[in-house]
Amino acid sequence: MNRTIDVIAGSDLVERPRRSRWPARLDYFQSASGLLLALFMWFHMAFVATILLSQDALYAVAKMFEGDFLFGHGNPNPLTLPRFGVSIPVTLVVAVVFFLVIAHAFLAMRKFPANFRQLRTFRGHMAMMNHEDTTLWFTQAFTGFALFFLASAHLFIMLTHSAQIGPYESSYRVWQENMWPWYALLLLAVEFHGGIGLYRLAVKWDWFGGANPGKARHRLKVLKWAITVFLLVIGFATLGALMKLGHYYQSHPGERYQPKWEQHAPGAAPPAAPAEAGGNR
Ligand code: HEM
Repeated sequence: MNRTIDVIAGSDLVERPRRSRWPARLDYFQSASGLLLALFMWFHMAFVATILLSQDALYAVAKMFEGDFLFGHGNPNPLTLPRFGVSIPVTLVVAVVFFLVIAHAFLAMRKFPANFRQLRTFRGHMAMMNHEDTTLWFTQAFTGFALFFLASAHLFIMLTHSAQIGPYESSYRVWQENMWPWYALLLLAVEFHGGIGLYRLAVKWDWFGGANPGKARHRLKVLKWAITVFLLVIGFATLGALMKLGHYYQSHPGERYQPKWEQHAPGAAPPAAPAEAGGNR
């Protein structure tokens, strides 16, 4: 008896193709997690972009997520742990988003070319077909890969510094801690990735197909570009505002943000002392 052949034949039996619903289920989970993340990013943009309205607006949003309103104005918030720089509710939200990002990336990995030969074959087909949707897929895979790293760093910072979000703390991070180039790349990657992802979801699940799918696809593409450009403009304006504010605080050492409604309150504390390098901000 030839044992090698037996073993190979045996493994072949175990691995024989079976009907399974799992590939379809995984596809569904990938779409659902992508949709949730894209919607989250729209809200994220709306919240962070409040800095374009005023410092008070961003501060109010940050305090709302920390749950300050539950404990009454001016009272200490037991859900904020200043010693660790963490706000429990914000850290919990970040943990859920982080989990979604990891799950989405894990599911998406199935679609990546597994080796150089597959990549070369794909690029060959892409060049030969010269079809925009195929090129969009490649852009989405590339930006998705970049997001593994770009998004993880941001989420880890938010997870561990969740009580240090606000006009002063955020602009300090963006400008004085030099996060702005990272955020610029993250913004580009996430807006292209999310825009293409939503477009592909709509085409894949035939959300707006109608009687004339070709026309619907063309309209979707126009909408996709409009949304991407809109979000990039708001995103870069937000980043610019945070950089400018960070620069302002850097050139006014000792000055700290204080919400307008506390500045004139009787007995209000003066602005806190200047931040020590790397110290608690
Ligand atoms: C719950 C999770 C998240 C929280 C609490 C959060 C919070 C923030 C905050 C406070 C800022 C202002 C800068 C700073 O303070 O460092 C910011 C900026 C930014 N965040 Fe997030 N973020 C979260 C998740 C994400 C995710 C998943 C992405 C993308 C994958 C993302 C992309 C960005 C970008 C691109 C900026 C730069 C600002 C802009 O130009 O819009 N964030 N985020």
